[in-house]
Amino acid sequence: MLAHFKRPLNAQRIPSLTRSLYRFPLDSDINITKRGETKIISGSGGRSSRTGYTATVFGGTGFLGKMLVAKLAKHGTITICPYRNETSMRQLKVNGDLGVVNFIEFDVRNLQSIEDSLCKSDIVFNLIGSQSNTKNFTMADSNIEATRRIAKLAKEFNVPRFIQVSSYNANPDSPSIFYATKGIAEQVVREIIPDSTIVRPGPMYGRNSFFMNELLPLRVFGGNVLFKKQVYPTHAIQVAQALEKIGYDDSTAGKTYELNGTEKYSKNELREMIKYITHVGMTGYFEAAVGWYLPATPLMIKSWCYLNGLLNPDMDSLNSDSFTRAQLDQILDPNALGYSDLGMKPDELADWLYTYVRPRIIASSQIKNRTVYDRDEVEKLRDYVNTPKDSFDLLSMKG
Ligand SMILES: NC(=O)c1ccc[n+]([C@@H]2O[C@H](COP(=O)([O-])OP(=O)(O)OC[C@H]3O[C@@H](n4cnc5c(N)ncnc54)[C@H](OP(=O)(O)O)[C@@H]3O)[C@@H](O)[C@H]2O)c1
Repeated sequence: MLAHFKRPLNAQRIPSLTRSLYRFPLDSDINITKRGETKIISGSGGRSSRTGYTATVFGGTGFLGKMLVAKLAKHGTITICPYRNETSMRQLKVNGDLGVVNFIEFDVRNLQSIEDSLCKSDIVFNLIGSQSNTKNFTMADSNIEATRRIAKLAKEFNVPRFIQVSSYNANPDSPSIFYATKGIAEQVVREIIPDSTIVRPGPMYGRNSFFMNELLPLRVFGGNVLFKKQVYPTHAIQVAQALEKIGYDDSTAGKTYELNGTEKYSKNELREMIKYITHVGMTGYFEAAVGWYLPATPLMIKSWCYLNGLLNPDMDSLNSDSFTRAQLDQILDPNALGYSDLGMKPDELADWLYTYVRPRIIASSQIKNRTVYDRDEVEKLRDYVNTPKDSFDLLSMKG
């Protein structure tokens, strides 16, 4: 019996042990909000603990929102999720203990529903954002007007912390409507709540992210124009973690953060790398298709996007504004703070690319293909795709 307890820990098991330990994101057991209220932590950090805080996450049903709600609810922050769609809110329920995750049906046009969502909160996160004009809401409605209404009510109810999730390249003067509306929303928030925190994430990758899904198709009409953009992709889970830290840390009030990965990639380069991981070695693969890029001129793609925007107005991609965004590389703001100011080290895409691309590997390609691409191999692949070569060379790479 004693021998069992004395057995030295297997080194390989230590990481999994540490991962399973719950740690509060708050250093202190007693915290005082800017409103002067005392928040006392109860429990040892697990699902049944409580941080004492209440947070509202507008946009909690989205890609990033779901991760943020999971992080907040995990340690027992009472989380309020305003929602407008039953199916997208359903999976949020299981993130916390009974009573931790709460839902309020809302509409940005209904002020009462916004008021109900935030009146009891200590932290309001606004993650609402839209990259296209829909039947009921233009981008200006979702990105500016919704923000204005939420910020005004947050001020009225004296909510101590307001965190606005903006976007990289947010700039009121941008030729892109999305970036311009996000830039104006930042100004609106700062006018109403000067000590709000603004967070601009780079393009976010993660499981089933829009950023990576867009790069998966083997052939894209005009990929040469649509994917030439250079970006600093960031890990969505880290953005959620950073938002959680910012929410609890009052020293972040009034500051602007840009959350980016450390390395610059062009979308084309990433797409080529993903193509290798998912398709090389695929049995019975039609060789000519690999080199078939369907290139086009910018004018052709611009007209195509314009037409598609008219025919499918709800589509986030392939509309006039997505075309404009595709022409604008990511610009970094030298005055903004970053992950390091939050005590975080940004993840590198090379460590995660295979993890997120793996579910998309075509079964037949596994027969000939290696099944694991570690960081070194992803880096070699990056060098390889950037070496000028005949496009048919692709199939002989593994030879
Ligand atoms: N994904 C990226 O790579 C990226 C990069 C930079 C910045 N951002 C910004 O980060 C934030 C979160 O991104 P995400 O990828 O999680 O976005 P997402 O998946 O598209 O989620 C957007 C959220 O906003 C809500 N929403 C949009 N328009 C609304 C409206 N008119 N009324 C009420 N709710 C509305 C959506 O509600 P429903 O679920 O009901 O539709 C959803 O919860 C957004 O502000 C986005 O602009 C994202």
